[in-house]
Amino acid sequence: MADEKLLPMSEGLVAFITEWKKKPGNLIMVLHKVQEEYGYIAGEVAIEVSRMLEVPLAKIYGVATFYHLFTLKKPGKNKIAVCMGTACYLKGAQDLLDELDTILSCKAGEKTADDMFSVAGVRCIGCCGLAPVMTINGKVFGNVKREQLPDLLAPFQNAK
Ligand code: FES
Repeated sequence: MADEKLLPMSEGLVAFITEWKKKPGNLIMVLHKVQEEYGYIAGEVAIEVSRMLEVPLAKIYGVATFYHLFTLKKPGKNKIAVCMGTACYLKGAQDLLDELDTILSCKAGEKTADDMFSVAGVRCIGCCGLAPVMTINGKVFGNVKREQLPDLLAPFQNAK
């Protein structure tokens, strides 16, 4: 077992899993870390996590699919998240998703054919006073109007 071929994972991730191995609530923490590193819960990494934490793979997929924050799909190069929390929803978040679909041909939960963008509807991100809010690669944009979307997307479309 010692020379077993492992790890599509970084040393930092392995150290994190090792540190959390015996702690309660470790699976959620580890999956957060995996998603932070890869942008999603990659299948081969889930297998390694299962092995390292001695948790059945089915449980990992159960947790990853139950919690909205985890995704099993590899995201696009640029990650767009539209807040669908109450304040944002009431101020037109669905219009933003619809317009993104028109511009990018990409619905929430999908990515564009060229892998440049993925679009997600997410829960409240804590900036309700700026509703409707979206993020692109973690950068927050507030009071977004659908007609602003082409300009907001342009820098990311041109940065191929
Ligand atoms: S409801 Fe959108 S940031 Fe809170």
